[in-house]
Amino acid sequence: MTSYDPRRVRSDTPLMNRVINGHPITYLDSASSSLPPRAVIEAMSRYYELRHANVHRGVFQTAVEATDAYESAREAIANFIGAPGGSGEIVFTKNATESFNLIAKSWGRANLTPGDVVLITEMEHHANIVPWFQLREVNGIEVRFIPVGDDFRLDLSNIDELMTGVKLLSVTSMSNVLGTINPIKELAEVAHRHGALIAVDAAQSVAHSATDVRDLDVDFVIFSGHKMLGPTGIGVLWTREDILADMPPFLGGGGMIADVRLDGYTPASGPTRFEAGTPPIAEAVGLGAAVRYLEGLGMADVVRHERSLTEDALTRLADGFAGRVRVIGPHDMAARGAVISLDVDGVHPHDIAQVLDQFGVCVRPGHHCAKPLMRRFGLAATARASFGPYSLHSDTDVLIEALGHAVSMFG
Ligand code: ALA
Repeated sequence: MTSYDPRRVRSDTPLMNRVINGHPITYLDSASSSLPPRAVIEAMSRYYELRHANVHRGVFQTAVEATDAYESAREAIANFIGAPGGSGEIVFTKNATESFNLIAKSWGRANLTPGDVVLITEMEHHANIVPWFQLREVNGIEVRFIPVGDDFRLDLSNIDELMTGVKLLSVTSMSNVLGTINPIKELAEVAHRHGALIAVDAAQSVAHSATDVRDLDVDFVIFSGHKMLGPTGIGVLWTREDILADMPPFLGGGGMIADVRLDGYTPASGPTRFEAGTPPIAEAVGLGAAVRYLEGLGMADVVRHERSLTEDALTRLADGFAGRVRVIGPHDMAARGAVISLDVDGVHPHDIAQVLDQFGVCVRPGHHCAKPLMRRFGLAATARASFGPYSLHSDTDVLIEALGHAVSMFG
């Protein structure tokens, strides 16, 4: 039984007490990085104060406790996403970007040959584009794109044709620019029907809706800690045990080996094969705490709340700024999440963001690491507001008022 109350989440979040330029902070940049609750910060502090030691090495009391804490975070994450093989399918990385590089540089190099196709979409983050271009330079693969329609949704009308020669379909579950939620289950069915695997960039959705890898029937899922109320410096790659078992190591060094001799080495089995060197232990502990905290909120209630915030904000933007402010993303609530990209007629997004900052409102201006998508819509940048589980309707009040000042300031 959960009892989600966004006001309680807010009071659990120390950074919400900041005053910025004389105004209480209005944090609308959760798509870029979310704010950790006290439970996460305290878990990390407690770890450093009481049990810091290296993991998987020592036999003394704190070393054993550190290893237990690190591995129990892995278990918490496996439970959170319904990993069928449990914690043995969870690899800790530095961030979502490293997770994609791990897929491309390990699974991709081992399994793709010249002419094989990786199908991605025009709405991907650079993290799900550049590693495939890099692999193309090495392996001669083809990188192909599913187009985005004028309705800001994937154009799947030719999907069976696009799937010709595809070995991997790699797609975001939710666009970090448009807010578009993609039909992952449907795409998984298409990928498997064509004998391909499917990888999902869940960085934008994992803290905003439930993720069940078994129900989605996908093959890889990646996300980062700091977008799900956790710390920076840690990301996750989930893949099925059988796929992981065949993936060669990506980084070499201590911790990832079973044996090293003068004539070579034998890699460890399981996720540690991909965790060379001392891993981000405190960050894993913090991410474990974040996942437990999110579980306590109940993702279904979080979805309902963020949907109501988004619907209300879209209505008020349309009513208050008709003809002046354009939302770059779907208006249909069934197709979108809590990310709202704005294009203000005649005003650069950086100027908008700077004026909003004067009112304590934090939004992100820029191309959001999705340049092909920006080009698709003839834009250099947008000003993006995004909600989190601590966001309230009063944040939208402040956003609308501050945006009104910005729009009138620039005529
Ligand atoms: N990927 C992050 C964003 O969309 C940084 O802002």
